[in-house]
Amino acid sequence: MDNKRGSFTNKLGFVLAAAGSAVGLGNLWRFPYLAAKYGGGIFLLVYLILAISFGFTLMITEIALGRKTRLSAVGAYQSLNKKFSFLGYLSCLVPFIITPYYCVIGGWVIKYFVVFITNQVSQAANDTFFAAYTAQTSAPIIYFMIYALLTVLVVLMGVEGGIEKASRFMMPVLVILAVFISVFSILQPGAIEGVIYYLKPDFSRFSATTVLAAMGQLFYSMSLAMGIMITYGSYMKKDAHLENSVHQIEIFDTGIAFLAGLMIIPAVFAFSGGSEEALGKGPSLMFVTLPKVFDSMRFGTVIGAVFFLLVLFAALTSSISLTETLVSIVRDKFGWSRRKSCVIIGAYLVILGVPISLGFGLLDFIAPLGMSLLDFFDFISNSVLMPIVAFLTCIFVGFIIKPQAVIEEAEVNGTFRLKKFYTLIIKYIAPVCLIAILLFSVFEVFGIITV
Ligand code: TRP
Repeated sequence: MDNKRGSFTNKLGFVLAAAGSAVGLGNLWRFPYLAAKYGGGIFLLVYLILAISFGFTLMITEIALGRKTRLSAVGAYQSLNKKFSFLGYLSCLVPFIITPYYCVIGGWVIKYFVVFITNQVSQAANDTFFAAYTAQTSAPIIYFMIYALLTVLVVLMGVEGGIEKASRFMMPVLVILAVFISVFSILQPGAIEGVIYYLKPDFSRFSATTVLAAMGQLFYSMSLAMGIMITYGSYMKKDAHLENSVHQIEIFDTGIAFLAGLMIIPAVFAFSGGSEEALGKGPSLMFVTLPKVFDSMRFGTVIGAVFFLLVLFAALTSSISLTETLVSIVRDKFGWSRRKSCVIIGAYLVILGVPISLGFGLLDFIAPLGMSLLDFFDFISNSVLMPIVAFLTCIFVGFIIKPQAVIEEAEVNGTFRLKKFYTLIIKYIAPVCLIAILLFSVFEVFGIITV
């Protein structure tokens, strides 16, 4: 491997780069719909508890492994213990499952941007607009292809730098706009019930499924359990304070997700009455609720257009980094040129993305485990593979290389205040909880137990 790995120029550079990759559709699109579906406040509470325990533990582990070995996932596990190189491969599988459907949603975002700049807000604010649109055959595929092409082109031309710079400017704008939209949502008549639903935990809604959903979301949103943070860590300088950097990334990522929920959930109550059905919309929630908000807002067309453009940027930085990962995996594995790898990965995205896109129309009869194709891929990666990878990572660090290895790396520069807490979680609490929850939810999906 090359020893002259580039490094981030300063400490903040690392945090911003990692946060830029972490913040994406996971925060803006996925978090609000899960929070709405799984009981609001109780989901938020479980998510926050998991973020400061599991999220912290796994993120510091992955970044430390990368910085220690200066290698990405496969190489990092392999160099620490040959028997565990399979774990590197397993974690690489996750971005292969996520990226195609990520691009399908990216296509929806472009469509909504176009809807707003062509002044069709009031149609989009209609309850049936989204479902009718996604059930179409050609339009969603065309937008998906545009999105995937854009992503692959950036990776091919290696202009991530430019995108990165642009998003560094757009991310703060997105935050300001999100604050503004949340305030507007909260002030709508009837929205306050939504605020209560979102902030006040209802313990009767607590179940293993809530925990599994929150955990899958945590891994997804923070780009954990897929080797990404190992790669980021491999670029991190030794003089950065690991623990503090992890806290900053987590606060940033969670803050944006929280804001997205505040923007969308009160609006569901204000505009759709907060019924079980309105809250359980799933993947379509952002696309159904937000247009209603913009439709009722002065200058809503302009604000909506800017908003979807910013979401598009946040999504692109994530899908570019996902695709870059896929390209580097096949390059390392097969020794193909960058160009050839990009073409093949592009073809792969299309081959999987097209049926996923059609899963809401032409192919809606294909419903594995009763889910749409998009939900199914999402389930396999976030609720099955990621918990397994996370479990194995805990076992690997807890009992094979020992937590001390990570602690030493974290203490290369400065202290590791939470090291006792860290050791306890990685060795015992996380593995036990991960296995329990995984089994529980898989049994539930297959109908072996019911809750
Ligand atoms: N965390 C990103 C989001 O919230 C999605 C994501 C998952 C991702 N894995 C990634 C982004 C790997 C970049 C790299 O949308």
